[in-house]
Amino acid sequence: MQICDLTSANFGAATSLWIKAGLTRPWNPPELDLQRALDGVTSKVLGAFDVDGRLVGTVMVGHDGHREWVYYLAVDETQRGTGLGRQLMTAAENWLRDHGAVKVQLMVRSTNEAVLGFYEHLGYADSDVQVRAKRLT
Ligand SMILES: CC(C)(COP(=O)(O)OP(=O)(O)OC[C@H]1O[C@@H](n2cnc3c(N)ncnc32)[C@H](O)[C@@H]1OP(=O)(O)O)[C@@H](O)C(=O)NCCC(=O)NCCS
Repeated sequence: MQICDLTSANFGAATSLWIKAGLTRPWNPPELDLQRALDGVTSKVLGAFDVDGRLVGTVMVGHDGHREWVYYLAVDETQRGTGLGRQLMTAAENWLRDHGAVKVQLMVRSTNEAVLGFYEHLGYADSDVQVRAKRLT
């Protein structure tokens, strides 16, 4: 397994993985999120490729000058439970650390309770905050 930066050549594979992993919503086109992350100097998308060069995992990272964020963590169903999710989170944390991060955080949809145990196992604790959001478009 090789973890490296995604490029626009991986657009189709990445969005397909995210759709299958249940991470996308119709009102939020994943292609736009991916393009913005690739274009930005404060963001990056890391991909895990198997020996056949197939994209089997992703994680998006970014920092806003104060906080560091992780998005779009996904592992192909065929590879889950093999340690790849942990590997991707370690790669994300290393990227953020290299960019001066002191604290990393992430959001989990309230409908995705299944993943909470995974994050807790990796040391991510409840921050006891509530997020408020408003669409600008
Ligand atoms: C979440 C996800 C990335 C985990 O990937 P994975 O490759 O299956 O996880 P790993 O095999 O690396 O597991 C890492 C560790 O977490 C543990 N773990 C995994 N799921 C767990 C759970 N629900 N509760 C507690 N521990 C869990 C594993 O036992 C493993 O422990 P170890 O390293 O100490 O042996 C994967 O399930 C996925 O893609 N889910 C769908 C997309 C998603 O919901 N992403 C998160 C959006 S916020």
